[in-house]
Amino acid sequence: MKLDDIKKVAVIGSGAMGNGIAQVCAMAGLKAVMVDIKQEFIDKGMATVNKSLDTLVSKGKLTAEKRAEVIGNLSTSLSNAEAVKDAQVIIEAVPEVMDLKKKVFTEISNAAPADALLASNTSTMSISEIGTVVKNPERILGMHFFNPAPVMKGVEVIYANKTTDANVDLLCEMTKKIGKVPVKVLKDAPGFIVNRIGAPNQALISAILDEGKVKVDSVDTLMKVAAGMPMGPFELADFVGIDVFYHTLKYYAETLSPEYKPGKVLQNLLDSKKLGMKTGQGIYTWEGGKAKIDASEQSQEFGPMDFLAIQINEAVRVLKEKIAASAADIDLGMVHCMRAFAGPFALGAGMEHTQLADTLNKLHKRYGLNIFKPEPEIVDGSFKQMK
Ligand SMILES: NC(=O)c1ccc[n+]([C@@H]2O[C@H](COP(=O)([O-])OP(=O)(O)OC[C@H]3O[C@@H](n4cnc5c(N)ncnc54)[C@H](O)[C@@H]3O)[C@@H](O)[C@H]2O)c1
Repeated sequence: MKLDDIKKVAVIGSGAMGNGIAQVCAMAGLKAVMVDIKQEFIDKGMATVNKSLDTLVSKGKLTAEKRAEVIGNLSTSLSNAEAVKDAQVIIEAVPEVMDLKKKVFTEISNAAPADALLASNTSTMSISEIGTVVKNPERILGMHFFNPAPVMKGVEVIYANKTTDANVDLLCEMTKKIGKVPVKVLKDAPGFIVNRIGAPNQALISAILDEGKVKVDSVDTLMKVAAGMPMGPFELADFVGIDVFYHTLKYYAETLSPEYKPGKVLQNLLDSKKLGMKTGQGIYTWEGGKAKIDASEQSQEFGPMDFLAIQINEAVRVLKEKIAASAADIDLGMVHCMRAFAGPFALGAGMEHTQLADTLNKLHKRYGLNIFKPEPEIVDGSFKQMK
């Protein structure tokens, strides 16, 4: 199959991610069919798409004619088999449950054309394992969008253990065609590239909370003032949801290292249903969509250097583990999937390696976690030559 042969995409699941993905495909001129198990879920997904298109029209980013064209490209279905039978690309976005993913992929692999690309938007499931139920597993791969899909530019395109280069390259081309930036991920490894690089920072947040010595308001305030972040890391944890934050750490503890085990404070917040913004209480109290943060102090102990050093160190590991093809790909991923101002290798190039190593050694000593220990390439500065 060639890029021009891709005319129709089937998106399985019309929830938070699925409807945005279908919208993006339809806006690029592809036919997109959005599937769900109940009409009410489809209606909700379509309502979200309509609202998103209305916003684009009101901002002058989309004409009324183009809006009508996009809606004309979209259709819906209550049957996976029916939706995929004439689709060239299928993107699965159903809940993160392995048995459900396998059931869906069995259905779509039986009904779709034999050469259709079968992509999963999973954030944490093994795509290779999902692939065990698929006919012709050389065509199963990951297509990991970031939330909200219509806005976020980066998409990780992930190899499972049997995916061919040709199929990954074709999906990368298609990703460009829908206006996104593909980031190739060479291995179906936990967190892929982008979330993996953020993983040890999540562990740091948990460690600081458990230690209980630092006023987290002061860290968030400094991160906003000094690094220009729209939200500080603790505020962001509350915004994303303590349940999501906790389960991500638990997943990394099971798949990457036991050192990621969520700490007592996060456990207590979860148990008492203090889940952050959505419940009004988490690390902070939330009112009217805003965290009540005491901005009167800026931390003297933790700041952008700590979080950045950890990211650069983890980026070196991701490259050494051959999850990414190059340092440039990692930087591309962090810029387009996380909206970082620059990637870890680009930022690290302008920094003293001794300062990075000292920062990491300090964190390693303070919390006794090896995930903070500097890699040899940080210690001797040779990470700056890594390509
Ligand atoms: N939400 C995020 O921020 C985010 C970001 C990146 C990736 N992901 C991944 O995307 C996937 C979907 O996540 P989401 O947040 O959109 O979930 P969601 O719960 O919002 O939506 C999933 C939809 O799938 C539907 N569904 C369930 N079983 C189905 C079936 N057999 N056939 C068709 N549809 C079915 C559900 O009814 C629901 O509407 C997950 O794998 C998740 O890890 C989520």
